[in-house]
Amino acid sequence: MKINTAEFIISNSEVDKCPLERIPEYAFIGRSNVGKSSLINMLTNHKNLAKTSGRPGKTQLINHFKINSNWFLVDLPGYGYAKVSKKTKSVFQQFITDYFEKREQLVCAFVLIDIRHEAQNIDLEFMAYMGESEIPFCIIFTKADKISKVKIDSHIAAYKKQMFANNWAEIPPFFVTSSTEGTGKDDLLEYIDEVNQE
Ligand code: GTP
Ligand code: MG
Repeated sequence: MKINTAEFIISNSEVDKCPLERIPEYAFIGRSNVGKSSLINMLTNHKNLAKTSGRPGKTQLINHFKINSNWFLVDLPGYGYAKVSKKTKSVFQQFITDYFEKREQLVCAFVLIDIRHEAQNIDLEFMAYMGESEIPFCIIFTKADKISKVKIDSHIAAYKKQMFANNWAEIPPFFVTSSTEGTGKDDLLEYIDEVNQE
């Protein structure tokens, strides 16, 4: 699939105020600074459609972007940057969990993981939350330009192992991306296209 048009629609902090239109929606979520906004820009061929920053905590609201006039990409604030508590629910900002619990248009979430690091508890907890809430998700390993191909493969293998150790019976579909090099763009857009046709 080619992205021909990408337009910013609205930012807000309340799920109830998100666009009412019933078109398929895909949301990007993950720790602050993992590269959610950068990936949206890479996929849509824009430099600044979604606001990015070297400092974590840049995206603070739910941002809807309409793609090819018939589906939404959603940029969400990161988790793990605001205060962290032991209770899973309070680890993730309330409106993030509200979004996932209420947004009926959501077809699939993409959970972004920095390929450079070992599995972090907060990401494993978030995926456990998605599993318990029965929200379909894929994993996107980001910033692939920062490490070698060999390391990418070994980090993914270690990640899978960790997920199996955390009682996942199977690993969700996953992608490897680099927003600076365009890696993973075609695979990701093709996947979304396939799901949109279902
Ligand atoms: P929050 O909105 O704060 O949650 O962050 P975010 O997940 O939206 O991250 P953002 O896209 O703002 O990127 C954070 C930093 O990582 C920026 O300095 C980006 O330039 C950098 N970055 C993002 N993706 C990549 C990538 O694929 N490769 C490299 N080298 N840097 C990246
Ligand atoms: Mg962001």
